[in-house]
Amino acid sequence: MTTNRQEEAQRYARLQEQYAGYQAAGLKLDLTRGKPATEQLDLSDTLDGILDGCYLLQDGTDVRNYGGITGIPEARQLGAEMLEVNPENVLAGGNSSLTLMYQYVSYMMRSRWQTDGGAPVKFICQVPGYDRHFTICEHFGIDMLPLPLLDTGPDMGRIEELVAADEQIKGIWCVPQYSNPTGHSYDEQTVKGFARLADTAVRDFRIFWDHAYAVHHLTDKPAPLANLMLAAQQTGHQDSVLMFASTSKITFAGAGLAFLATSTSELAAFVDFLGFQMIGFDKVNQLRHVKWLENITKINKHMEQHKAIIKPKFELVEKKLAEKLSGKNMASWTRPRGGYFVSLDTNPGLAMQVVELAAAAGVKLTPAGATFPYGKDPADTNIRIAPTYPAINELDTAMDVLVTCIELASLADSLRD
Ligand SMILES: Cc1ncc(COP(=O)(O)O)c(C=O)c1O
Repeated sequence: MTTNRQEEAQRYARLQEQYAGYQAAGLKLDLTRGKPATEQLDLSDTLDGILDGCYLLQDGTDVRNYGGITGIPEARQLGAEMLEVNPENVLAGGNSSLTLMYQYVSYMMRSRWQTDGGAPVKFICQVPGYDRHFTICEHFGIDMLPLPLLDTGPDMGRIEELVAADEQIKGIWCVPQYSNPTGHSYDEQTVKGFARLADTAVRDFRIFWDHAYAVHHLTDKPAPLANLMLAAQQTGHQDSVLMFASTSKITFAGAGLAFLATSTSELAAFVDFLGFQMIGFDKVNQLRHVKWLENITKINKHMEQHKAIIKPKFELVEKKLAEKLSGKNMASWTRPRGGYFVSLDTNPGLAMQVVELAAAAGVKLTPAGATFPYGKDPADTNIRIAPTYPAINELDTAMDVLVTCIELASLADSLRD
């Protein structure tokens, strides 16, 4: 055995001992879903009761009653400020933007997207990406075409080629700011490329612009994101653009407001579709949000308090990864400037094993592969870390376990060679 190999074997034996210690500790830690921590939810507790018996809108509408499927005007205005569009382009809905995305896909599948001579509807899916976008596609039998996400956003040239070559490609999922899970934001050229795509793509092509992390910055000077709707309006192709946002990670994740923005004509058609399933969303919740959040300036101020709670958690993840894995050729990871996740890549073929090792030591991670369509990461490298929910001491231990598992799996791999 060479000295190097001997050292590796000794290190592996020490790590195995450490790992056995974690197993014996009976840990129960969870780094799976990107949920706000309880202290973050506490920030919005005064939402409850803010209406204090006043249920009337400025125009005299009683929000306790039926009606108003596009949402109350005040909530549409709030959504318009978050998405930087006009209020007449916005629908203010219930508590989940994901539901609006699902309902929009459902509407298009029923009305305009069809299989063509046996060829299914197809979507371009940036990878790694948001697992729930992919499960919507799976649910509707939409074929997913994975496209790697670059540092500046997706490769627009490749997207244009794909869309030009295949009429069955009807949509693309985008998380343009602080992408889930990599944290990347699209640069100006990429947004311009999407505006061009809106301009050239015909046949009911839709850009799903999921702006879930529009106000979720982790730095004091966030880079601005160019406005896709404005660019698309300039060329008259706003029908292809669908923007989504919500207050899920601003107020209460289970009781917030969601927004959808598109052209006024497309919005009217979608609202007709919604009319078969409901008379209106929860307007009382819309009104209490508007009274409490008021406007984008107040939202941004409120988000500073969220940042104060979660930034130290992201810093801890970076510190642990850098301390234990830097320079070892075992993993690479992202350093997000906003959003809810850190994306980590192991060496090829090891992600699943790392997730299994962590689970056996009491640390739950998002299943390896979840960030890819059909749950299949072809290189088996990507692991999504969600640091916001656990308490900082729990996160500390969970990260120790994770880096130990990465080292163990990497060394075992190297010693096998
Ligand atoms: C990219 C992205 N979109 C949407 C959502 C869900 O949003 P909502 O709570 O509004 O349904 C999430 C939640 O993690 C997300 O990461």
